[in-house]
Amino acid sequence: MTLARIDDIQMAYTDSGIGRPIVLIHGYPFNRTLWNEQIAALSSSYRVIAPDLRGFGESDASEGPATMNQMARDVVLLLNHLGIVRATIAGLSMGGYVALALYKQLPSRVRALVLADTRAQADTEEAKQTREQQAEKALTEGMAGIADAMLPKLLTPETVSKRPEIVKRVRDMMLKTKPEGAAAALRGMAAREDQTDLLPKISAPALILVGAEDAITPVADSEKMHHAIAGSRLIVLENAGHVSNLERTEQFNDALQDFLKELPN
Ligand code: MLT
Repeated sequence: MTLARIDDIQMAYTDSGIGRPIVLIHGYPFNRTLWNEQIAALSSSYRVIAPDLRGFGESDASEGPATMNQMARDVVLLLNHLGIVRATIAGLSMGGYVALALYKQLPSRVRALVLADTRAQADTEEAKQTREQQAEKALTEGMAGIADAMLPKLLTPETVSKRPEIVKRVRDMMLKTKPEGAAAALRGMAAREDQTDLLPKISAPALILVGAEDAITPVADSEKMHHAIAGSRLIVLENAGHVSNLERTEQFNDALQDFLKELPN
């Protein structure tokens, strides 16, 4: 593990391989190990950077809501620290919210975008209230209840019943998350801006991936992004839910590698 001082926190990250850089941004409430299989597959041809977002994994948590803008800024500061001017920015779910925020802040730093199991819309009022309840729950009761409630929404019923190793992996990541980090991210996600208007302004090549059975950010959300981002590519992964990179690793990696290979120099 490598640590860097980023703004007010110590940020943990993986930096593996040599080549054109790609940043993999994990979702909530996970950490950079979400990407282990993608790091392994890509780092023979690319420089793969996978941070633990603030409050997650081995990165410090901070006071107050961890906004998507702050997390995007953290990623840019990490790129600065590593001397990387431009990178492909890939994010899954909350990582996708961060990727869109980063594009909005500094489009010139983004060679290409990969938006996996995510959406451009902001939370509804009802969703904001649920986030606040979840934040309180995390802080008062810890992560176990949150993990149990989330699991069936994250994975397909087939994965839940037939692939115990994936269930364990996802559950363990959630249980390792610091309650204060989870609460800060929940409040940050609730406060995030709607990025729908940004989509038609995106000129970077964009790959959109989504599990056909994603119950949290359904295929319709990805279709909306696909229609709004000119030239984007949409791939729907069969037999996958919200954590499609884990449930259909080979298909996810093939789609990512094909996209990266075709990027202009
Ligand atoms: C995630 O996977 O990052 C979250 O489920 C996204 C969300 O809750 O909106």
